[in-house]
Amino acid sequence: MSAPRFRSLRPVRPAVPEDQSALGELDRATWSTLHAVQPRPQPPYGPFFDDRHPPAEFLVADAVTGTGEVRPAGYIRLARPTPLACNAHVLQIQGLAVADWARRRGVARTLLRASFAEARRLGAGRLTLRVLGHNTAARALYAAEGFAVEGVLPGEFFLGGRYVDDVLMGRPLTL
Ligand SMILES: CC(C)(COP(=O)(O)OP(=O)(O)OC[C@H]1O[C@@H](n2cnc3c(N)ncnc32)[C@H](O)[C@@H]1OP(=O)(O)O)[C@@H](O)C(=O)NCCC(=O)NCCS
Repeated sequence: MSAPRFRSLRPVRPAVPEDQSALGELDRATWSTLHAVQPRPQPPYGPFFDDRHPPAEFLVADAVTGTGEVRPAGYIRLARPTPLACNAHVLQIQGLAVADWARRRGVARTLLRASFAEARRLGAGRLTLRVLGHNTAARALYAAEGFAVEGVLPGEFFLGGRYVDDVLMGRPLTL
């Protein structure tokens, strides 16, 4: 669903269970083979939050629209890559999406920086992520925010009729 460009951004906040439907809608509206490796969601839609994707792993950026309405402009998910104790110093960005109507206004950058603060608060020393090779917008964002390419799985996914690289990026949290 589109909406007027937003007027201001609220401070990033932790997600709550009540965000379920708005974040599910945002997620479906932004689906594309540029970033998604799952097929396009079809009704009946599954829940946005579940046992493996609890609200506690998500941060939300709310925007105040031109009409004064407050609605989520984007979210980021920060999760442990594995449950191993020897891997506990690493957190991974496992989801980032900004609504079409809120793009190129710094929402993703704000969410990323909030995730750095949250990851530090949780005791992590390193942040990693995976991004598709053809997702130039996200790759530019991550590079601008201090992530370096640490590995590439060539042609890892077949999406939209093409083989696409899986790019692994990482960043220390000491920066
Ligand atoms: C990638 C995405 C999260 C960017 O969100 P955004 O709020 O528009 O990004 P920002 O406004 O914070 O942009 C910050 C920087 O990222 C880069 N960037 C963002 N969008 C870009 C684009 N379309 N083309 C090139 N660079 C882009 C720029 O360096 C930008 O800085 P600038 O505006 O000063 O030039 C958004 O396009 C999106 O939700 N895409 C679909 C989901 C997705 O790809 N998620 C990432 C999965 S790994």
